[in-house]
Amino acid sequence: MGQRKIDFYHRFAGVALEITLCAFAWSAAAQTADQAWLRSSPDGTSALQLRVRALGNGLLEQSAVRELQRGIGGAAKTSRLGQGRSAGAEIVVGTVEEVRMAFPSRPVPADLAPEGYGLSSTGSDAHLRIVVAGADERGTLYGAFALLRSLASEEDVAHLNLRDHPAMPVRWVDEWDNADGSIERGYAGRSIFFEGGKVRENLAPVAEYARLLASVGVNGCNVNNVNNAAPFLTPAMLRDLARVAGAMRPWGVRLALSVDIASPQKIGGLPTFDPLDPAVKAWWKAKADEIYALIPDFAGFTVKADSEGQPGPASFGRTPADAANLLAAALQSHGGVVLYRAFVYNHHLDWRDLKADRARAAYDIFHPLDGKFAPNVIVQTKEGPIDFQAREPVSPLFGGLTQTSQAMEIQVTQEYTGQQRHLVYLAPMWKQVLDFDLRSNGKSTPVKEVLAGAAFRQPLGGMVAVAGVGRDAWLGSPLALANLYAFGRLAWNPELDPAEIAAEWTRQTIGTNPEVVRTVVRMLMQSWPAYENYTGPLGMQTLTDITGSHYGPNIESSENNGWGQWHRADREGVGMDRSVATGTGYAGQYPPEVAKRYETAASTPDELLLFFHHVPYTYRLHSGKTVIQHIYDSHYQGADEAAKLVDEWASLKGRIDTRLYEQMRARLEYQAGHAIVWRDAIAEYFLKLSGIPDEQGRAGHHPGRLEAEDARLTGYKIIDATPWEDASGGKAVSCVLASENAPQRSCTAEWTYNGQAGRFNIAVRYFDLQPGAASFIFKVNGTTAANWTAAAALPSSRPHGDNSTRRTVRGIDLKPGDVLRVEGVPGQADPAALDYIEITPVGTGQ
Ligand code: GCU
Repeated sequence: MGQRKIDFYHRFAGVALEITLCAFAWSAAAQTADQAWLRSSPDGTSALQLRVRALGNGLLEQSAVRELQRGIGGAAKTSRLGQGRSAGAEIVVGTVEEVRMAFPSRPVPADLAPEGYGLSSTGSDAHLRIVVAGADERGTLYGAFALLRSLASEEDVAHLNLRDHPAMPVRWVDEWDNADGSIERGYAGRSIFFEGGKVRENLAPVAEYARLLASVGVNGCNVNNVNNAAPFLTPAMLRDLARVAGAMRPWGVRLALSVDIASPQKIGGLPTFDPLDPAVKAWWKAKADEIYALIPDFAGFTVKADSEGQPGPASFGRTPADAANLLAAALQSHGGVVLYRAFVYNHHLDWRDLKADRARAAYDIFHPLDGKFAPNVIVQTKEGPIDFQAREPVSPLFGGLTQTSQAMEIQVTQEYTGQQRHLVYLAPMWKQVLDFDLRSNGKSTPVKEVLAGAAFRQPLGGMVAVAGVGRDAWLGSPLALANLYAFGRLAWNPELDPAEIAAEWTRQTIGTNPEVVRTVVRMLMQSWPAYENYTGPLGMQTLTDITGSHYGPNIESSENNGWGQWHRADREGVGMDRSVATGTGYAGQYPPEVAKRYETAASTPDELLLFFHHVPYTYRLHSGKTVIQHIYDSHYQGADEAAKLVDEWASLKGRIDTRLYEQMRARLEYQAGHAIVWRDAIAEYFLKLSGIPDEQGRAGHHPGRLEAEDARLTGYKIIDATPWEDASGGKAVSCVLASENAPQRSCTAEWTYNGQAGRFNIAVRYFDLQPGAASFIFKVNGTTAANWTAAAALPSSRPHGDNSTRRTVRGIDLKPGDVLRVEGVPGQADPAALDYIEITPVGTGQ
C-alpha cells in the first residue's frame, strides 16, 4: 500500500507479556459493540484455561489480546476449542519480527503485505498453539479478529494456516455529524461524537465504535459533515478532537476531518481562500502542523467544494486539482491524504434543456484534470453518477481517471434506500459495482481493481462508506448493521460473496443455528431487489421526495427543478435519453465497449433502461413485458416480497433473542405497509399518466378498500393529498379541532360493511405526523378491536407518503350490516389523518 504508515506506538520486541484467560468481567457501557456483531462471552466469564499472550506491548497488540480474551469465551462454547481439550493451549499475538524472535524455528511469512496477517496453529489439545502474526501492529489486530471470525464460524482452528491482507489501503467511514449533535442523513439518533457545539465528554461509545470498525478492517473515520465544516478547524475544537482520535487509536482507526475550502477566510481572517494565494497556502500549512502536533496519526481531509452551495475553487477560476493540491501540500510531510469528492455539479440546471444532465458532471469536471493531482490526493467518487439511488449505473469516472488514485463512496446510512426503517441489505448492490468491468482500453478493468490501485498502477485507493451511526443502537435497526459489517468486509476483500458475508454476520450476531442463518441470509439477500421493485425499477431511480426527506414516494418532485434527478415521465413515455446520438451524451463517457452497450435501448440491460433512454410505455423489455406492465408487476411483486419478509421473520420466533425478534417484527410489518404505500403511489401515478391499464387489473382497483372520504364523518374534514398519489384516491380526512380546549376531542369515520360474511384482516391506513402523537381506536359494532398511538418518528409534518403507514388488525369476523369505525384523537400537531380501511379475507394477503 502506498499510504504512509506512521507508527507511534512503542514496541518492545521479545518482551513477552503473558495474560491467562480467567474470569473477565466486561463492564457494559451504555452503547456497546455488543449491540452489533461483537459479542462478549454471554456470562462475561470463561472457564477455559486458554492463555492469550502478546509478544510485544504496542497499543494495538494489547487491543488484539484483550479482544481475543473477550471474544474467545463466547466463541469457544461453539467451537472445537470448547470441548474440554484446551487446557494449556495458547494463542500468541505478535508482529512478524516478534514471532520470529520468540519462535526461531517456526516458519513465519516473510512477505506479508501491510496490515496483513498470518494465522497458524501447531500441536493439539493441551499443546495447541495458535500464532497470530501481523505484518505490523494493525495486522496483529486484524488477525485477532479474523481468528474470532473463524471460531464463530466453527472452523477447525487446530489446523489453521492462512494469511490475508486488505485489497485497498483506504478503508474509511465518513460520518456526516454536525457540531450541534445532529447528523446529516442520519437515522439513528444523535451524534456519538458531538453535542452542543463540542466534543462529548463521554467518548466510550466512540471507542466501542472504533472497535467495531477495526473488527472488519476499517482504518479511518472522518467524523464531521462534508457541509458546514469550517468550525471544526478552530483551535479549541481541534484540541477536543484529539480526545476523539485518542479514543479510536487503540483500534487502529485514524481520525480524519471534512474541511471547508473557504476556512482561511471563514475562520482564519484572510480576505480570500484562493487556492493559489501564498497566504492561503501558508494558512493551510500552519493548520496542518497544528493538527499533527495534537493528533500525530491524523489521517487526512475530505473535501466537498463547489457542490450544493459549498464554496469552492471555481469562485477564483481555479480547478478542483488546485484546491486538492493545496491541501495535499499541507498534509504531505505528515503522511496525510486528501479525499477530494467528485460530487461536484450544478444544481441550477435548466430542466427544459434536454441536453442538460447532472450525471455527466463528475466526468466532465474531473476527467480533464487526470494526472494533475498530487500523489497524496485521492478522488472520491460516489458509486453511481447521481446520488446513492437504489439502482444506478457505475460512475464512468472510475474508468476516466487513469493517472489518479481513486476511492469509491457508498452509503451505509440508507438515505435513499429506506432510511433503516426498511430492511435493505446493500452488499449485493455494492458487489455488482465492484465487479463491474469498465473494459478500459478493451481490457478487463473491474472497478475493484481500480480502487485497489492495481488497474492503473496508482499508489492509493479505497472505499469510503457514509455510515451515519448514532446513539440509537448504532444504526437504529438491528439488521441494518449487516450493511456496516459488509462494507468493511468488502473493502478488505471485494471478492467476498455478499451471501457469505451475511451468513458470517448472522452467525456472530443472531445465532449459529443453520436454519436461523439460512432464513436471515435469505431475507437479507431478498431485501434490495424487493426495495428496488416497490420504489423505482428499470433505472428510474428512487421516485422519492427529492427536495426534502428522500423517503416516501413523490414522483414529480424531481421534475421541474434544477437538481437534475429527472425521469422525464410524460403521457407517452418515461426515461432520460442519455445516448450520444440523440441524448445528453452521458453514455459516451464510458470506455467504448461499455458506451456501446448503453448507447441503444436494445443493448441496455432492462434494469437500467430508463436511466439511459426515453421510451414509450409500450416499449418491450428483454423480458418480453412492456415498460408499463413491468412498472405494475414489479411494484406488486416488491410489495409481496416485503410482506414475505414478515412471514420469514415470524418463522424465527422462539429461536432468537426475544427483544431482537420483537424489534424487527415491528419494523418489518411497518415496511410491508409502507411498501404498499409506495406500490400504490407509483402504480396509480403511471396508470393515470399513461392511461394504459394493468393487464392484471390490480392498479387502481382495490375491491376491499373503504375510503375515509366516503365514510360517515364526525369532525373529520376531507383533504386533498399532496402529491395526490400519496393517498388512496388522492384524498384523506384530517381531524383538526377548533382549539386545544374545544369540547370535541376526537373525530370519527364510520362505514357499514356489506360484503360477504367471513374472517378478515383489516388494514387501517393513516398518517403519523410530526410533532405529536395522535391515537386511534378501531371498533367493530361498538367494541374496540384495536387501539394504538401514532408515535413513530417519520419525516414531515403534513400528510403524505413519508408518514403514510398501515396498521393491520387480524382475524376479525364480519357479516353484512356490521359497523366499522375509526376514532382519531389528535395529539399536538398530529391531526390523526386517515386514508382508508382495507378488508382482506384471512389468508389472502396483508
Ligand atoms: C446528498 C445528500 C446530502 C449530502 C450530499 C453529499 O445529496 O442528500 O445531504 O450533503 O449528498 O454527498 O454531499
